[in-house]
Amino acid sequence: MMKFIPFVAVACFAASAQAQGQVNVICSVQAEWCNMIGTVYTRTTGTKINIAMKGSGEALAQLIAERDNPKTDIWFGGTGDPHLQAAEQNLTLEYKSPSLPQLHGWAQQQASQSQFKTVGIYSGPLGFGYNTELIAKKKLAIPKTWNDLLVPALKGEIQVANPASSGTAYTMVATLVQLMGEDKAFEYMKQLHKNISQYTRSGTGPIKAAARGETTVSISFVHDAPGEKLNGFPVETVTPADGTGAEIGSMSIIKGARNLDAAKKFYEWALTPSAQEMAAAAKQFQLPSNKAAKVDRNVPDFKKIKFINYDYAKYGASAERKRLIAKWEKEVNSLPR
Ligand code: G6P
Repeated sequence: MMKFIPFVAVACFAASAQAQGQVNVICSVQAEWCNMIGTVYTRTTGTKINIAMKGSGEALAQLIAERDNPKTDIWFGGTGDPHLQAAEQNLTLEYKSPSLPQLHGWAQQQASQSQFKTVGIYSGPLGFGYNTELIAKKKLAIPKTWNDLLVPALKGEIQVANPASSGTAYTMVATLVQLMGEDKAFEYMKQLHKNISQYTRSGTGPIKAAARGETTVSISFVHDAPGEKLNGFPVETVTPADGTGAEIGSMSIIKGARNLDAAKKFYEWALTPSAQEMAAAAKQFQLPSNKAAKVDRNVPDFKKIKFINYDYAKYGASAERKRLIAKWEKEVNSLPR
């Protein structure tokens, strides 16, 4: 028995030495931001970041699949609902950051309602994107309300993501259910289905397609448009006058993380104003959760938007999210167009 002790000690030492050296991150924001984080963090701290990019729904599916043998240390970004679902399923670790008081109330609420298994890192409103040139050329009206998306003239002209893989699209489903009531929301989505050309895997697919003239209209987070505009594409956004939802983009430490100390250091860094300001430098314009972070002028003005009172706890609950996505697959996605 004694013989094994030195070996075990060496093995532990090797594991902890390695632990300081790297963090495995699932990154659910756009590639530009993920890459900037990877480069800057590695350069400034010497800690290597291994990044896997996944949409919010896909990230959750991966964490469920690796539950018994987690390969991920941190899940950075993506909509808050699947982060809450991960918390409820005990996939993520309770961690109370000392920086919590520096965050906006909505970000702290995301933490407290998950028993501190996730935290808000940014927020952004849902709305519509449209290609200004196509809409003029096709003589279409700019949609201003949810019902405006149902006009026959928009048949085949709209893209939105698939709510099973995309948190953006799930935010739409949950927003409509809260805005209209469940029966009317599903009736609405069945009508909308006739005008959809494609349900994309990723939430940003539709705004990118609108920017490039591959679709006329998209249902998207409005903060995803200014980056496309800055890249020279003719795209604008509106938020529905009848009300819309917002995401609380979140971050969670994975339960059983192999590089836990390094993961906590990264987590703390990601909550600092300077780390959050990096989003705008990567042309990503969500509202940062740290109150001291500078708000870029391209960040949507929340005061001008009509928001529903989004119930994050209810729509982030595992059973509810699963139920709504399954219902959408069965009653909406399966219909012919
Ligand atoms: C983009 C947005 C983020 C959002 C994410 C969700 O990256 O900029 O604010 O959290 O999409 O991605 P998903 O593919 O899950 O809709």
